[in-house]
Amino acid sequence: MSNYNFDQIIDRRGSRAMKIDCLETMFGRPDLTSMWIADMDFAVCPQIIEALQERISHPIYGYSCPSYGYWQSVIDWLRNRHKFNVTQEELTFIPGVVRGIAYAVNYFTQKGDKVIIQPPVYHPFKSVVEGNERVVLNNPLIMTEVDYEMDFDHLEHLMKTENPRMLILCNPHNPAGVQWSVATLQRLAALCHKYGVKVVSDEIHGDLMLYGKPHYPFATVSDDAAAVSITLGAPSKTFNIPGLVSSWYVIKNPELREPFYKWLSANEFNSSTFMATIATEAAYTHGGEWLKEAAVYIEQNIATLEDFCKNNMPAIKPMRPQASFLVWLDCRELGLEQKELVDLFVNKAGLALNDGTMFGKEGAGFMRLNVGCPKSILVAALEKLANAINNL
Ligand SMILES: Cc1ncc(COP(=O)(O)O)c(C=O)c1O
Repeated sequence: MSNYNFDQIIDRRGSRAMKIDCLETMFGRPDLTSMWIADMDFAVCPQIIEALQERISHPIYGYSCPSYGYWQSVIDWLRNRHKFNVTQEELTFIPGVVRGIAYAVNYFTQKGDKVIIQPPVYHPFKSVVEGNERVVLNNPLIMTEVDYEMDFDHLEHLMKTENPRMLILCNPHNPAGVQWSVATLQRLAALCHKYGVKVVSDEIHGDLMLYGKPHYPFATVSDDAAAVSITLGAPSKTFNIPGLVSSWYVIKNPELREPFYKWLSANEFNSSTFMATIATEAAYTHGGEWLKEAAVYIEQNIATLEDFCKNNMPAIKPMRPQASFLVWLDCRELGLEQKELVDLFVNKAGLALNDGTMFGKEGAGFMRLNVGCPKSILVAALEKLANAINNL
């Protein structure tokens, strides 16, 4: 028996939800079924709401400092969930993972330095690097039968010839939900250590592992990984609270950590709001059961999607994610140009999905679908898509 109602349809219009209220700006139409940006349409776990309501009812909203309970909740979560042992001094708050990537790029590299990313990948990896006048080096992933793997030959070639200073890792990988194996992460760490490349490991999707798979925090896979890594994580994707802007860094190596954390403090980049730390503490302390049920619901939605595609639109091949609620749809068999593919989804089917090329040119022929929604919404969207394809 489920304790939470993930089938409930919640009207998000007018709630300042980017997913809904920015449809017209993003897609040119307000009337689409919204299945793009990575938040879920599920109510958050009640203990988060209760904790926030209790604090909101206090009439003074002054400056805030994180409590002992907040730090301990992050430490306990990482140890109990991921066997990631961290101390409070290795941990700091940051207001958002993308901002955290940007701080690390600004602090650890200079203008003109080269930073490796592995497309198709979450698009701010590129825009943060380029927006700060650094240079992106692409090490495109290699597609396999089931998902993607890293191209280690090309990666080493880049390291030998281009003198990169940093690599931004997506672990697990958005958009395809790939869980990198320990062996892959160890090999990556050894290479980065050998060539003096720092690794910013974005692990925001790491709590949302599916099918009982564990998450492997990069910093835990070897001494090399601990020495070169700057890890970022957050309760935001996990518990559907990204609007509260709560994230953290873990840096094991004191030579990286101490001067960097001093710089963050000097600039107050690590200051938190009470909404962020209160929601985080409640989520990490009380949200385990909600998360377990959310993951099962997402797995069921993925199964619904896979069956529907097989039976009704076999030219769309969903890549099964091992983590998170985002599904990478291989639409290449439709034989459409990317512009036509986007037109099919948006204008013909009335669906707002992320265009695959947003994640790099390697995403041509793909669209990214968010299945973090009630099953009835997903099924209705798939029916609209199947109709649109039949009418091509
Ligand atoms: C890999 C990855 N990193 C970071 C973010 C965004 O994190 P934040 O909102 O904390 O900046 C997302 C959101 O989709 C993501 O998929």
